[in-house]
Amino acid sequence: QTIYLTDYRQPDYLIDETHLTFELFEDHALVHSRLLVRLNDGRADGTLCRDGTRHSTTEGRVPSRPVGVGAPPLVLHGQELELVSVAINDQAIDSSDYQVDEHSLTLHPQTADFELAITTRIQPQNNTALEGLYKSGGMFCTQCEAEGFRKITYYLDRPDVMSRFTTTVMADRGAYPILLSNGNLIASGEHEGGRHWATWEDPFPKPSYLFALVAGDLCLIQDSYTTLSGRKIDLRIYVEPENREQCGHAMDSLKRSMRWDEEVYGREYDLDIFMIVAVNDFNMGAMENKGLNIFNSSCVLAHPDTATDMAFQRVESVVAHEYFHNWSGNRVTCRDWFQLSLKEGFTVFRDAEFSADMNSRTVKRIEDVTFLRANQFAEDAGPMAHPVRPESYMEISNFYTLTIYEKGAEVVRMLHTLLGPERFRKGTDLYFERHDGQAVTCDDFVAALEDANGVDFTQFKRWYSQAGTPVLEVEGRFDASSSTYELRCRQSCPPTPGQAEKLPFVIPLRMALLNERGEELPLRMGGSELGTETVLAVTEAEQVFVFEGVTQEPLPSLLRGFSAPVKLVYPFSRDDRVFLAMHDPDGFNRWEAAQSLAVDVLQGLVEIHQAGRPLLLDQRLLEVYRRVLSDTELDPAVAAEILRLPSEAYLIELAEVADVDAIHHVRETVRRELATALAEPMWERFESLGSTAEPWSADAASMARRSLRNTLLGYLMLTESSAAMSACVRQFVEASNMTDRQAALVALVNSSDEQQKHAALQEFAQRWADYPLVMDQWFSIQASSPLPGGLQRVQELMKHPAFNIRNPNKVRSVIGAFANNNLVNFHAVDGAGYRFLADRVIELNRLNPQIASRLITPLTRWRKFDPVRQELMKGELQRILEADDLSPDVYEVASKSLA
Ligand code: ARG
Ligand code: ZN
Repeated sequence: QTIYLTDYRQPDYLIDETHLTFELFEDHALVHSRLLVRLNDGRADGTLCRDGTRHSTTEGRVPSRPVGVGAPPLVLHGQELELVSVAINDQAIDSSDYQVDEHSLTLHPQTADFELAITTRIQPQNNTALEGLYKSGGMFCTQCEAEGFRKITYYLDRPDVMSRFTTTVMADRGAYPILLSNGNLIASGEHEGGRHWATWEDPFPKPSYLFALVAGDLCLIQDSYTTLSGRKIDLRIYVEPENREQCGHAMDSLKRSMRWDEEVYGREYDLDIFMIVAVNDFNMGAMENKGLNIFNSSCVLAHPDTATDMAFQRVESVVAHEYFHNWSGNRVTCRDWFQLSLKEGFTVFRDAEFSADMNSRTVKRIEDVTFLRANQFAEDAGPMAHPVRPESYMEISNFYTLTIYEKGAEVVRMLHTLLGPERFRKGTDLYFERHDGQAVTCDDFVAALEDANGVDFTQFKRWYSQAGTPVLEVEGRFDASSSTYELRCRQSCPPTPGQAEKLPFVIPLRMALLNERGEELPLRMGGSELGTETVLAVTEAEQVFVFEGVTQEPLPSLLRGFSAPVKLVYPFSRDDRVFLAMHDPDGFNRWEAAQSLAVDVLQGLVEIHQAGRPLLLDQRLLEVYRRVLSDTELDPAVAAEILRLPSEAYLIELAEVADVDAIHHVRETVRRELATALAEPMWERFESLGSTAEPWSADAASMARRSLRNTLLGYLMLTESSAAMSACVRQFVEASNMTDRQAALVALVNSSDEQQKHAALQEFAQRWADYPLVMDQWFSIQASSPLPGGLQRVQELMKHPAFNIRNPNKVRSVIGAFANNNLVNFHAVDGAGYRFLADRVIELNRLNPQIASRLITPLTRWRKFDPVRQELMKGELQRILEADDLSPDVYEVASKSLA
């Protein structure tokens, strides 16, 4: 069943107050809800009755008006619920007065305001979908976004119904000493039989997707934060006792996020308490439930002995992301799920800027752009392509996508670029002020930016409605006689499902012109001085920009900082790219030039390889790398990024028809050749960057050194020299931290030294057997190894006692890592990788549809491959489609992929 944005209607009823009582037992849970329901009077004139959500009990309810004939039925969402009882205004009603089916409970109210009491019984202990109320290890927890609340009780489970929640949790005191929900603790007490209870009250109206509950035996890490206005906030992180030592970084990240949102957006925290709970079984990264964020433990726990620098940065950014949702998501929420990017795109933009401010801005941007181009561009080019604001969906869980999150963030970034930071801030101030406490749309967001600044973003909004990655072709034309330089721009966008034709986008093109020494020229256009860097707004299908007073042919530095999510095409020669890689004053574009040079070289070699000719490496790439190795002025983290060749996934995305084997062979050959040719400077730089045994430090400079050192270690190991092997083994043994130890393990696992490899893997598994997140790394390194026999290794890994298909982190680190990072093995031409993945999808479809559906992604890319693989991939999608009891999640992705 497909749901359309154009079918949006306001709710017929609103729920002013929601009072919940949970009785938790080992073999079931009882959920008693008492709802103050009110007919939505505002619905007739098309305006949402928003202030209605703020009515107090008495205002909203007395007197009870009869609704009269023609009152709409009240249709509550509910799934997998056992209905125990229903009462209206304390009068039990019997089953002839309501209808229940698999998805709903329908009532026929006689008055416009009433109190509805419902009791349902659910089975959290059997909930393997990890949606609604479920058990993770010994703890009860919830995940309600997007539509999980309806698996807890019958409700108007839609984001435009905002209600004030009071929640009482009752459970055995011994097993569940900690009982949490949203808001403030207002009462607690004892019960007979060793049970106890706690009541939480959340003063802020919220949609049901932000509801949360936790009950477990958790230890508390506590701190506090004083807001700019002087309010003291109680900060709490709850984790399982063995993880007590791993919370410092999350706590520190939280405090820095709170400060940053005050300084950059003027947003203060609003409750007296802010809680984070870490759980081991979680479908996603984390969830922004009001006052009670629930996190995948992988996004909370970080200790240098067990977590890599990458994990530290992920914790920092996810903690910030969820915290920032308190304003961009909770105080101002989404009217419907088509508007998901309203909160996700904006919040990803906010967390990216936070990370950029905390660490290296250039490196953060390089990482994000790399990720977007390899993954979101592929999504935009595939069968699941959809606009940032989709027009239809079958299962909303499938739309927590790279397009909604990452491209959505790029759309907000473009608005920020077009307005500049001050005017953008004026716009967000107006947005938060105007819509506080409301459920709104992407149009409302843009309207606030427009109204605060007197601008018109009508055309810009095509970024919300048109899917696909635009192509921006640019050509430069220097005319000595008139001293002008023209940039001729042409934009287009390929068709996507349901959208054959696209209208021109507004593309902010940040650029500069460089002279032969790499210096930026002053820019003059139409008689005005634009400085040395400017943002051109490309708005037409074809458009020419003329710069005046240019007396020598310049080289353009284009799309600086990746100022728009487009594919830029400019006829740069390899020499141009070498020049830009060495001289562009903009760090991001220096990386971009080196990257595009490498892409060009690799693509050329793939063709040569396919023609059966020998591979000869363009020495210019080598020279760029040599320069980077000796450039001690350059941030080592940026150097590491430049030295990393474009990924196989990105090369596949760029290809018309991708030859995975050729791409893998060529890339590995070039890596080995670079390592051999540059072994000397690589060793020199490697050794100059300090030793792995020195004490660990979390500062950006130390992380940058580790990043470059380990990139170099990876190259040096390709030379198969005994010096490299012993340096690697030494690093594995002596490392003072997991970043270095893991980098050594990766290099060993991908080496041909079977003995060292097995010794290291065994010793690692023994030492970290009790650390599930470290074991995830151990799994993922092996599942990602491109050496022959990948599928067999993965099948062995699945038999390991630490593997558990019910734990999403394990699924991601074994099955996901294989299908997404081990392309040469996954795409084995016998189709065994595809078959394996489809089998796992079918198995997971019953256990956890959300995880099953996400796992299909690599198969949805079938159009990129040769006819033989295409047939094999489609065959597996077809087999998935024919499986019994297909979830809507899996059905939607499999069927759309074949359509
Ligand atoms: N809102 C959460 C976040 O971005 C993610 C929730 C994902 N839920 C889902 N059903 N896919 O932080
Ligand atoms: Zn989010």
